[in-house]
This record gives sequence, structure tokens and C-alpha cells, in this order.
Amino acid sequence: MNKKNGSRNKIILLACLIGIIALLHYATPTEPHYYHKIHIVLRKLYFLPPVMAAAWFGLRGAILTTSAVSLLFIMHALLDWPGNYMEQANQLGELAGFWVAGLIPGWLFDRQRSILQELANANEETLLGLVSALDLREHSTRLHSQRVREYTGLIADRLGVDEKAKREIGFGALLHDVGKIAVPDQILLKPGKLTEPEWDEMRKHSEAGYRIVKKIGFLKDAAEIVYAHHEQLDGSGYPRGLRGEGIPLGARMFMVADVYDALTSERPYRSPMSYEEATAEIKSLSGSHFDPVVVDTFLAIAPEQLQEIARRYPDQDNPNR
Ligand SMILES: [Fe+2]
Repeated sequence: MNKKNGSRNKIILLACLIGIIALLHYATPTEPHYYHKIHIVLRKLYFLPPVMAAAWFGLRGAILTTSAVSLLFIMHALLDWPGNYMEQANQLGELAGFWVAGLIPGWLFDRQRSILQELANANEETLLGLVSALDLREHSTRLHSQRVREYTGLIADRLGVDEKAKREIGFGALLHDVGKIAVPDQILLKPGKLTEPEWDEMRKHSEAGYRIVKKIGFLKDAAEIVYAHHEQLDGSGYPRGLRGEGIPLGARMFMVADVYDALTSERPYRSPMSYEEATAEIKSLSGSHFDPVVVDTFLAIAPEQLQEIARRYPDQDNPNR
């Protein structure tokens, strides 16, 4: 269920709840005494929608909901107690209670949301700082990781991945090569081709990254993507030779996004490929390296959307190189 549908369902639920409470309250007479007791208990249920709206939508939602509740309640007070000013004053006190029940939690929930957002931003900035530090070690100012995160996000959207999982997949994409911190400089920065033993050393970065990332509580799922980011659908990848759906979906999405970015980016030994050339290459590896469902989903994304991301996160020349 996406965020928009979730909000719509909550609004419908609130409207139904207010309607049911009002109906029961209006339909229960204030006399005889026995019914009056039920009437008063039902009246207390009006506190529920303002508190629920505060929790779901914050202060603004609480104000709107409490306004609707107040309108219905004032009408009831006028209908049930015509000319009885003492009872109407009593009802007015109840009305003030609804506003307190809506406004205070509404303000508190808004405050809590903004604190959580600040915390999420701080986590994000810390991770970006770590990724920049790794890039600097490789003497690179490339924004490869950020572009790949964005491309992966587009695939995740189209596959209906929920927001929480999408965020974790994004962290996995961002941190995929964090394990390179364990690769010695003479291998990581070697200008020429690597020997086979050097490749063996380089291939350890998936597991090294997994060991680093899994220790961080909110990155547990991201760690699985880091571990599996060099696997291939037919089992020819590393480090575990996982196959098909044994590879986490996040990693299967990342693999396509990663290769697309590698092919369309400038490299010292070749010019960047066009969208058409890169997607033809990806299509040729669908079913062997890549999950065909993910490839088809990726190919359905408008090229302009991908190009806009590439423009937003451009590679720059490193002045210190
Ligand atoms: Fe890697």
C-alpha cells in the first residue's frame, strides 16, 4: 500500500467513525435516566477522532477533524437541549475538551515527526560523508553511488516496493563498495590490469562490506545488498554464487542500475555509451546476469528520467589528481 492510498484509507476511516459516533449519539435519547447514561458514554467517543487524526496527520489533520466533530456536537447540543442554557454551557466544556485532545497531541506528533526527520537526515549525511571519503581514497569525484541509488529507486517504484524497503535498498546501493576500504592501496589504486591473486583480494570487498554494514542496526537489509551486489542470476557471480531469487530483490535491481551507470559513464579507457547502446548490452545479459523482470522494468523507464538523474549527479574532474 503506497503512502497516498494509506492516507486516503485513514481519511475514510475517520469520516466513517465520526458518522457512526454521531449517529449513535443522536439516536440515543437523553431520557429516561438509563438512556442518558449511554448517551453520555457515547459523547466521550467524540474524543477518539481528534486524537487519531493528530497521530496520523499531525496538527493540521487534528484541527480539521476537531472542527467536523465540533460542528456535529454543537448541532446536537442545540437539538437536545433547546433553551437549556446550563446544559448547553456544560456541553461547551465538553467541546473545549475535544480541542485539547486534538491540538496538544497534534502539536506533539508534528514535533516528533520533525525530530525523526532530522535524525534520518543526519543518518543520510553521515552515510554520504562515508561514501565521499571512500571516493576520495580512489582519487575519484564520481557520483556513481548516488546515481545508482536513484536508478535503483526508479526500478523499485515500478515494482511496487514500499517506501521503507526502498529506503533500505537505496542505502545498500549507496554503500555497495564500502568493503573496498579493506582492499590494499596497491591493488585498489593499481593503474594496470590486476593479476588473478589481486582479483581474489578485490573480490573480498563484498563480504568485507557486509561485515561492516550489518553491524549498523538500521542498515541490516542494506547489508544483504552489499553482500550480494556482485552475484549474477545464473550463479556465476561472487562471493557466494547465488542464483535467481536466492539473490535479494534489492541486489537484483541494483545490478542493472550499476551496469547501466558504468556503461553510460566516462572511463579512462572508453567513451560513455549512449542510452540505446547501454540498454542493448543490458538486454543481451537478461536471464544470464540479470533478472528479466528487473530488466523489463528498467527498460520501461523513460530515458529522459535516467538522463535527468545523470545531470543531477555529474562526474567532475578531480583537481588533486
Ligand atoms: Fe563492488
